[in-house]
Amino acid sequence: MKMKIASGADHGGFKLKNELVTRLNKKYDFLDLGSYALDPNDDYPDFALAVSSAVISGQVNRGILICGSGVGACITANKIRGIRACLCHDTYSAHQGVEHDDMNVLCLGARVIGIELAIELVESFLNSMFTGEARHRRRLSKITAIEAQASLATKEG
Ligand code: RB5
Repeated sequence: MKMKIASGADHGGFKLKNELVTRLNKKYDFLDLGSYALDPNDDYPDFALAVSSAVISGQVNRGILICGSGVGACITANKIRGIRACLCHDTYSAHQGVEHDDMNVLCLGARVIGIELAIELVESFLNSMFTGEARHRRRLSKITAIEAQASLATKEG
């Protein structure tokens, strides 16, 4: 069975997102959450929220977010509880982020990298699995505790 992947991009990542989906369509089952047309006035938080929500709901296994630099998409995605997003422009981080940190959203910057590197990064990300080792689980549980504390602090504040 093909892995289900949510993809999303603002105008900065629109072209690269479409190229990626076209090139990898046969291997992965993409849920493309837009943008569906080049709109210079669209905003990356909207696509980051859509992709992150699809990951959190279990509709897809993982997410790919693209904006101009990858930074804004990454900042937004990490606001959503349970999302572990990272901007990775090297293949080591793209697979080690999954193996050790259970990264579930990969962010890319279309104004920084080209399609061939983007494909290698996506393949590294999608072909990796969380190792589940105790030390990594311990660290993830600390992240979960920080998330819980942060939302508590917000409510109390
Ligand atoms: C849009 O112009 C650009 O700011 C956005 O795609 C992204 O690079 C933000 O991090």
